[in-house]
Amino acid sequence: MNVLIVGGGGREHALAWKLKQSPKLQRLYCAPGNAGTAGLAENVAIGADDVPALVAFCQDHAVEYVVVGPELPLTLGLTDALAAAGIQAFGPTKEAARLEGSKAFAKDLMRRCGVPTAKYKVFRASELQEAKAFAREMPGPWVVKADGLAAGKGVLICTTLEETDEAIRLVLENKAFGDAGDALVLEEYLEGEELSLMAFTDGRCVVPMIPSQDHKRIFDGDKGPNTGGMGAYAPAPAGTPALVARAQKEILKPVVAAMAAEGRPFQGVLYAGLMLTAKGPMVLEFNARFGDPETEAVLPLLENDLLDILLACSAGELENVPVRWRSGSCVTVVMAAAGYPGDPRKGDAISGLADVPDGVTVFHCGTSPDASAGTLTSGGRVLSVTACGDTLRDAVDLAYQGVGSIHFDGCQFRRDIAARAL
Ligand code: AMP
Ligand code: GLY
Repeated sequence: MNVLIVGGGGREHALAWKLKQSPKLQRLYCAPGNAGTAGLAENVAIGADDVPALVAFCQDHAVEYVVVGPELPLTLGLTDALAAAGIQAFGPTKEAARLEGSKAFAKDLMRRCGVPTAKYKVFRASELQEAKAFAREMPGPWVVKADGLAAGKGVLICTTLEETDEAIRLVLENKAFGDAGDALVLEEYLEGEELSLMAFTDGRCVVPMIPSQDHKRIFDGDKGPNTGGMGAYAPAPAGTPALVARAQKEILKPVVAAMAAEGRPFQGVLYAGLMLTAKGPMVLEFNARFGDPETEAVLPLLENDLLDILLACSAGELENVPVRWRSGSCVTVVMAAAGYPGDPRKGDAISGLADVPDGVTVFHCGTSPDASAGTLTSGGRVLSVTACGDTLRDAVDLAYQGVGSIHFDGCQFRRDIAARAL
């Protein structure tokens, strides 16, 4: 089977690495890919959100199956356009991807099917005063979220009413997040530990993956601004089997059932960002795709042929595939460029990639191949340095040995990935 992976980050490198192990795979393409995927797949110079060019490429190159990494092409309707051209894909339709593309849609759906989530209301641009009044009806802190996609930056946590008013104005009036702020969700603040629970689904059957934990802040001790994620580990002990069973029953299954019942069946990865509160797991947000960097810490522990699982999701036959996980733990440490999460510096040479100890897998995020320097940095998150171990301690130690072998100017990484669980 000829397969195209859409995207060019650490998640897509991990997908390529895992799919490459499938005996069913013939040719593997990645659009646009990075220096890491170049060693496993044929990189194609098409942007992940260029829907017509991606469809045309598949037609011209006999691509039979497309695995979509990022959210933007999903919300733009890539899988719909591929289906119209007779090409199968892994990932939800445009309508189903609204679970990630519109926070108001996701919250309303959760309300309709009784899924635990923070109390909230949705406000449109004309409802500035109403939003401010609603903030005064609840105790702080207050959470203001732009409705649409905002590259992980659309969530403002406010500790005073003045800050909340300002956040509401910023989103609805100043359009700080562009069209994503045509509406906002104002919700109560939840306290607890966060957990990423991703699940494979064919639209009916839902199979949770092992739970993982991301580290969103740039600095050790969860300090500094939010990032796309500075590291992850799996399985996260906070996600006990009982907790996962509860989330499956109270969250994942009702949402997948409601999406089908309402005429927009969800096929792909349903990723629930959970807060483990005193009252039980509550949903912070849904993503309609694999998490990044969670995928880099979860896929190395998957025993199955990944292509089998993805194809079963697309065919509505997931119940026939017993998904199996290895014992042990996996840790991924992100090495980011100077300036990240602001404007990252690019074009620095990366050295030591071949010197990492046995057992360390380096997934590339923002890298590009260079004829003279080898590999150059080309994005905010540069590498996801990954290792598995019998224990979480072993995995952490090996991943950091890997980090220690690699160098580029201005490199930043957290030294406390998985420390909470140790
Ligand atoms: P989201 O994109 O909705 O996951 O929000 C990004 C981050 O903001 C989450 O990972 C949490 O750390 C934080 N966050 C979002 N919603 C809430 C909430 N209701 N209470 C506390 N923290 C939140
Ligand atoms: N790691 C968070 C995300 O993928 O959205």
